[in-house]
Amino acid sequence: MTLTVPAFLEARRSIRAFTGASVDTDALDAIVAAACIAPAPHHSRPWRFVTVTTDDGKEALAAGMGARWREDLVGDAVPEARIDELVAASHAKLTGAPAIVLGCLTWDGLDRYPDEMRRRAEWGMALLSLGAAVENLMLAAADAGLASCWVAAPIFCPEAARDALDLPDEWLPHACVLVGHPDPAYVGRVRPPIPLEELRTRR
Ligand SMILES: Cc1cc2nc3c(=O)[nH]c(=O)nc-3n(C[C@H](O)[C@H](O)[C@H](O)COP(=O)(O)O)c2cc1C
Repeated sequence: MTLTVPAFLEARRSIRAFTGASVDTDALDAIVAAACIAPAPHHSRPWRFVTVTTDDGKEALAAGMGARWREDLVGDAVPEARIDELVAASHAKLTGAPAIVLGCLTWDGLDRYPDEMRRRAEWGMALLSLGAAVENLMLAAADAGLASCWVAAPIFCPEAARDALDLPDEWLPHACVLVGHPDPAYVGRVRPPIPLEELRTRR
């Protein structure tokens, strides 16, 4: 039996190359609105979104996260030349995108617990919800003919990303999506077949 995935889900791919065209502010707002109808725990909206389109904003974000990554790589004893290469590539990726949407988590609206186990579970729910919101955002981008690619960086350095953009203390960046118009020359990576028998079991 061949299982089919809905076409609108298949259509979203990570596209890592963009034309030089900027993304319309209304189009960015529309994909953020799509993110904001994601399911969220107990009617909270534990996320905040920052659209970064200015050169200064992209530069600050890339430099702030890059400096933090450099420290981590030095701590890992990665050779200096390799560190320079990695940090420069990340910087170029971020500053080269026409727009960046930064997804932040906040405790606003979440339940507070006295114990660490439940605090972590509550934060975990918020993070799951942010993932759903980011998927909504990328699906809406694909539907609008825009290219997008999720970039992991801020989850490793939320405070550095926050401070780079002078965001409120309680906004902690955890997801970063590059958005632009797709470079027609970009060839997407092959999507491997889905080994359903390994990924799903039945009880
Ligand atoms: C949490 C998360 C972090 C990711 N980080 C990166 C990243 O840092 N750089 C990148 O090029 N792609 C990143 N991706 C994109 C994945 O590589 C991509 O989704 C995966 O290869 C499947 O390809 P597809 O999105 O085209 O279906 C990330 C995806 C997720 C969900």
